[in-house]
This record gives sequence, structure tokens and C-alpha cells, in this order.
Amino acid sequence: DANAPISVDPFRTVAKEMKFLTKNIRQLLGSGHPTLDTVAKYYTQSEGKYVRPMLVLLMSRATALTPKSKDRRNTLDQVNTPITDPDVLSDANPDARTRPLTSPAHDTAYTTADSDILPSQRRLAEITELIHTASLLHDDVIDHSESRRSAPSANIEFGNKMAVLAGDFLLGRASVALARLRDPEVTELLATVIANLVEGEFMQLKNTAADEKNPVWTEDTVHYYLQKTYLKSASLISKSCRAAAILGGSTPDVVEAAYAYGKNLGLAFQLVDDMLDYTVSGQELGKPAGADLELGLATAPLLFAWKENRGLGRLVGRKFKGEGDVQMAREIVASSTGLEQTRALAQEYVDKAIEAISGFPESEAKTGLIEMCTKVMKRRK
Ligand code: FPP
Ligand code: MG
Ligand code: MG
Repeated sequence: DANAPISVDPFRTVAKEMKFLTKNIRQLLGSGHPTLDTVAKYYTQSEGKYVRPMLVLLMSRATALTPKSKDRRNTLDQVNTPITDPDVLSDANPDARTRPLTSPAHDTAYTTADSDILPSQRRLAEITELIHTASLLHDDVIDHSESRRSAPSANIEFGNKMAVLAGDFLLGRASVALARLRDPEVTELLATVIANLVEGEFMQLKNTAADEKNPVWTEDTVHYYLQKTYLKSASLISKSCRAAAILGGSTPDVVEAAYAYGKNLGLAFQLVDDMLDYTVSGQELGKPAGADLELGLATAPLLFAWKENRGLGRLVGRKFKGEGDVQMAREIVASSTGLEQTRALAQEYVDKAIEAISGFPESEAKTGLIEMCTKVMKRRK
């Protein structure tokens, strides 16, 4: 069809960069302690979706063509130096300044001089995946999850203690890499994300802001859910898109646009995630399906169903722990418009994300960012 819109595979747009991503992440995670080394790298063995690094790379490339406020572009040679200390007993501060500033040969991706993506932006992409993976290590412990990325989850393979500690180790290494970007604003953004993840998870311990045991549906119910969703999912995506634009030296308008894109896409991403928990099998998801109700969580599909069936409030109040509650809630959600409304709300956010970057000059990377929105709506895992 000659009239079909030209579509760009977002993965192909940044394929060269993505090729080095896992390798570089594994380098960032090296430890002289062999068991820690294994546990820390465990989730890098299975293929993740790499949504966050892909967004950072696409945003970096798309904003490279926008006006710059000041020349902040620098090559930041120190981001290239390995931070792995092979001697596990060494307590030396692995300070970049004490290490050679030349790019090691293995970091080929960082030496591609013709690329419009800066070394600091590539490193940012890796940092986002490290923080995300750390949160998954912790999340699988909290959720008593048994599988992730179609393999046993780290808590099952190595136990809770090692999974939690490995997550902390990832955050530590992410912090070192972040500090080496030598950009206080970007450091503050990503440090805030880590705090936001915890705040979101704490909000999720309750399904409603008020009257937890005896909740009534109000407009505030959805508001509370969306606030939680921003903190646990959209914060990382939005603030890393913002950080990508900052590292590229973009003007405040462009920085805000990048943030708005990430925020709206991030909210849509989690809404779809919460929908897939109801609609797709565990086999296809590569992680347990139908897990949210079992965990006592009332997500968007259920909240919309609750608005139509106020009797659901009793089940929400006891976190679906009563005999047959989970099954009954599932049936009520299935016969309501909850799933449809969740999809429609996700579509609204995706439309806002596309609108946010409409002023960017046309480029393959911009098309890739738009295509990511379509992919989020179409995804089944
Ligand atoms: C997955 O959600 C989990 C998150 C998006 C964030 C989890 C955050 C924490 C555990 C806070 C502490 C961690 C760090 C590193 C600061 P989900 O359980 O709804 O999705 P799933 O189906 O993929 O498990
Ligand atoms: Mg989970
Ligand atoms: Mg969870």
C-alpha cells in the first residue's frame, strides 16, 4: 500500500548502539566476588525488552537535531573507563581521575565518531537498564514471583537474600556510572527516580488513599492509582528521557517535551502492563499472569469495573483474600468495560506522548519514538 505511513523499526534505528548495550552493562556489573558476579548478571542473560535504553537512545538522536541552549556537548572520556575492580577486597575508590582517560578497545560503541549520540547518552541508556533491573530483582522478592523473562526469577534461582543484595549492587554500580557523567542535574534526576520507585511501591501496598479496609469508589481512586503508576513506572522513563535531552544540551522547551513524552508513554506502558495481567497467559508473558489480584492489587481494569459494580469494594477492602474472591473479581472485570477503558486511557496517554514531540524536526529517530507508542499499544508481553 503506497499510502501506508512509512514505519520505522525503532530497534533498527539504534541497532548498532543496542548491540553494545548488554555487553557494556555486563562490564558495569563485574565483581571480583564470583557468586555476586553471577547473581548481578543473571537478568542480563535473558533477553529483556530494553524499552528504557531504546527510548534514551532514540530521544538522544531525535533531540540532536533540535536547538541547543549552550554547548554542553562533551566527549566525557571518563565514562568509558571500566569501574569493575577485579580485586574484591580492594576498598580503593575507583575514581575515574586515577584511571587512564583513553577509551578501552572493548568499548567500540563509544568510539563511533560519526554518531550523533554522545558517550554520556549511551551511558545513560545503560544506567536506566541497571536501575530497572535492580527494581525487578527487588520486585520479584516482594511479589514472591517465580519467573521472569521466561526463566526462573533470581529469588528462586539464588534465594531472597542474594536477589536483594544483587539489586543493591546494581544500584551501587548505577550510581558510580551516574557520578561519572559529571552532570549534577542528571545525577539528581536519576537519584530521584530510585526514591520514586520505592515511593510507588509503598503506595501500592494500599489500593486506595482512604478507608483501606472499607473503601468506596471515588474519582480519587483512579487519581491515587495514576500517581502510584507514575512513581513506579513513568518516573524512570520520563526522567531518563529528560536526562537524555539535558546531556545533549537541549533548550528548556525541548527538555520539557522529552519529559512529557516519557511521562505519557510511561503511564501508557504500565496501563497496558496491568491490562496484559488479565488478558495474556503466563506462558506468553514470560512471567506469572493474573498475579495482581493474587497479590491483592486493584489495578486499572479492576478500578474501572469497580465504578460499575460498587459491590467490588468489599473484595478490594479485604485484598481479594476471601474464598473465591479472585475468581469472582476476574469474572466481574471480564464482564465489565474495565479492560476497554484501560486500553482507551492508555491510548489517550500515547496520543499525548506523540503530541509532546510534534515540534521536533522530522527524523528517523522521531519516527522511532512515535513507533514506540504504537508498539506499547500492540505489545503482548
Ligand atoms: C514491576 O512491577 C516493578 C516495578 C515497576 C518497580 C518495583 C520497585 C521496587 C521493588 C522498589 C525498590 C527497588 C529499587 C531498585 C529502588 P510489577 O510487579 O507490577 O510487574 P511484574 O509483573 O513485571 O512483576
Ligand atoms: Mg512483580
Ligand atoms: Mg510488583
